[in-house]
Amino acid sequence: MKGSSHSQGPQAAGARRRRWGWLLPLLVGAAFLAEIAFLGRLDMAKNAEAVESWTTSFYRRSSSGGKDAAPAGGGEDDEIRRCVERLEREDAVPYDRDFDKDPVLVGGAAKDFNKCYVGCEFGFSASKTPDATFGIAPDPSVDSILRSMESSHYYSENNINAARGWLFPVVCFHNPYIEAFTDALDVYMSSRRGYKIVMTTSLSSDVPVGYFSWAEYDIMAPVPPKTEEALAAAFISNCGARNFRLQALEMLENLEVKIDSYGSCHRNRDGKVDKVETLKRYKFSLAFENSNEEDYVTEKFFQSLVAGSIPVVVGAPNIQDFSPGEGAILHIKDLDDVASVASTMRKIASSPDIFNQSLRWKYDGPSDSFKALIDMAAVHSSCRLCVHIATKIHEKEEKNPKFMNRPCSCSSKKGTVYHLFVRERGRFKTESIYLRSGQLTLGALESAVLDKFRSLNHVPVWRDERPPSIRGGNELKVYKIYPMGLTQRQALYGFRFRDDSEFEKYIIDHPCAKLEVIFV
Ligand SMILES: *[C@@H]1O[C@H](CO)[C@@H](O)[C@H](O)[C@H]1NC(C)=O
Repeated sequence: MKGSSHSQGPQAAGARRRRWGWLLPLLVGAAFLAEIAFLGRLDMAKNAEAVESWTTSFYRRSSSGGKDAAPAGGGEDDEIRRCVERLEREDAVPYDRDFDKDPVLVGGAAKDFNKCYVGCEFGFSASKTPDATFGIAPDPSVDSILRSMESSHYYSENNINAARGWLFPVVCFHNPYIEAFTDALDVYMSSRRGYKIVMTTSLSSDVPVGYFSWAEYDIMAPVPPKTEEALAAAFISNCGARNFRLQALEMLENLEVKIDSYGSCHRNRDGKVDKVETLKRYKFSLAFENSNEEDYVTEKFFQSLVAGSIPVVVGAPNIQDFSPGEGAILHIKDLDDVASVASTMRKIASSPDIFNQSLRWKYDGPSDSFKALIDMAAVHSSCRLCVHIATKIHEKEEKNPKFMNRPCSCSSKKGTVYHLFVRERGRFKTESIYLRSGQLTLGALESAVLDKFRSLNHVPVWRDERPPSIRGGNELKVYKIYPMGLTQRQALYGFRFRDDSEFEKYIIDHPCAKLEVIFV
């Protein structure tokens, strides 16, 4: 598969086992300590979740210029306006690192994007130490980056916790055998410091690198006529995958679901064909991945969507997160599901109306949740890496007294005004939003964000990337607003400010809170 950056094979694993075998007792101790550390992290994650909402009241007014500010009526608005002006002035502490003049420098790879929302260079510089580098950096002050699109079920170093150098979770999550344990140890030993920045297919990684993008797949291509007699097409080449996909294929065949197989497993058709063109003729496509790992969703799935062929999935347990619409995909979660999926396939195939209903999203457009997911890839992963690095650098600066001493809120007889910073996901630059006590509500936040971005004639990052039929008009619609720094898994599926009071608490507890917004 493309984009991989791994180096270890099974033979190497054997050698490693011998090499590190003597370390085992030591490592049990290390694993124990790592577990404690890991549980500590879990606790932190729980706290982060507890913080998942906000509160009080918002004053709809946008920062710069104030062209679109609410009219200053009486003394009340004058008080508020003075507060906003004061915050505008006093919170505007310049960062030492200006990425326009001193761009992010990433070592160990060439630049592979045309445009980015923050100054960023790739490659080697004789005069400058990079901010981060691919692979384990020899210089401990340089952040190391792991980038791979392989499943961690084959390349255990891609497991996020292993990649970060936290040993224990790999062992327990992965499998109970000693080999796995020593393998994990080896990963641990070879990356003692761990990778600071992890880029994998996992939406929980720092900078997810998915297989999906609007550019690569013409997802809204029209549904072609289904001319094949067989229900489904299969392109499965590695018959030895570690999940149950081959058994699932055999069970479907035994249930007399007619399958045309173009891959080397159970081949009954000539495999030298264009995959997507072939899929187009079938009602179903067996999108069987080689591992059932969260978020590991490859071209098999997206090509089925392009072809208007309903994907029957063996793979990511959370594949429904990737569904473009209700009833648009079938999921074989385990072998017990095969019989019912087979009968659903027959039912769908037997009626043009039911079949058409499963492809409704091709006519009406995909769901907002699907758009919000695929839009992430509208910004190149290497650019998202730059934004991630630049954000971390500025966050470090924000711990300095000159930032810590910013007022961030301003009290007057008419209430307190809170200063928030909001940016669109994928971009670097933030915009100022001001909310007023008594109006610190989620509704007021959304209005303030919309007012602000409308006043700037903001163009969402995905505008030129999405297929024209689903670009929409110039209206901005908020899908999600969440604290900056959450993973995409949290941002898209986990996080929500529970209610206004949670939001209020968040804003009060986080002076100059930084938020990210996803428009759909
Ligand atoms: C499927 O539904 C769409 C949208 O209602 C309609 O335009 C199309 O003609 C239908 N196709 C078939 C084959 O019924």
